[in-house]
Amino acid sequence: MRFVDEVDQDDAHVPPRPAPETRRLSDLLGAATGPVVRDAPALRAVLRGGDDPVLYTAQRDADPRRPLPGPAGALYWRGDLVEYSGGVMADGEPVRSIGHWNPPEQLEVFQVVSGRVVLLMGDDATPATISLAEYGPGDTAVVPRGWFHLTGAPWGPATVFNIYTDRRGAGGTDVAGKYHARAPLPYLIAMSGDRPVAEPAAGAPAVPPVVLTGHLRPDGLALPDDLRRFLTGAGPAELADLRERLAGLSATDWPRAA
Ligand SMILES: [Fe+2]
Repeated sequence: MRFVDEVDQDDAHVPPRPAPETRRLSDLLGAATGPVVRDAPALRAVLRGGDDPVLYTAQRDADPRRPLPGPAGALYWRGDLVEYSGGVMADGEPVRSIGHWNPPEQLEVFQVVSGRVVLLMGDDATPATISLAEYGPGDTAVVPRGWFHLTGAPWGPATVFNIYTDRRGAGGTDVAGKYHARAPLPYLIAMSGDRPVAEPAAGAPAVPPVVLTGHLRPDGLALPDDLRRFLTGAGPAELADLRERLAGLSATDWPRAA
């Protein structure tokens, strides 16, 4: 038992961790603005057959948020741990996240903890620039500011940790704003044998996209070796420095100029 005066003041300000969020096939198909999937009837047939497989489980604030005080008010680094069940779905896509457009002000970095994933990211310019690359344990990826991104895990279970800046210091996902407010990127991931490929979906522009195939992180930008350790152990100056370097990157045309 702990008495009130034994509670560390920092602990006292950490909000409770939100409940884990489980996303199933029905959540993917239920996205109001889409969804962009390869074959919706094939996926609906799975549901009609009485199966609603878990695609992934997200633990928001897997490690406590870290505040970044600034002139515009409080900002936080937050960290999520997402576990993908893995495999290939009935429409030939990897077991995947629903995918979303990042808010324009948000900075986000991914790191694979275990397993292998494929990340599809893209913008809404014409021609579109899209990035499709495979990532293994320890690999990191930076989401360009305002881009769409989704994660696939076709080769089996995989775990990804991501950090992102947020004005909201607590709470679970704003599902309506994140998944239902804007039509998804009209490209998706298909499997060609054992390898993922980017494929245009309904609504893709006639102009072919520029496809980037390397890991999406800028040359010369040092990232923490371990994002979880960074979130839990970095000092205030390090937390602010990463935000500033990523924000500076966002002022450039990266990765379009690559
Ligand atoms: Fe995101």
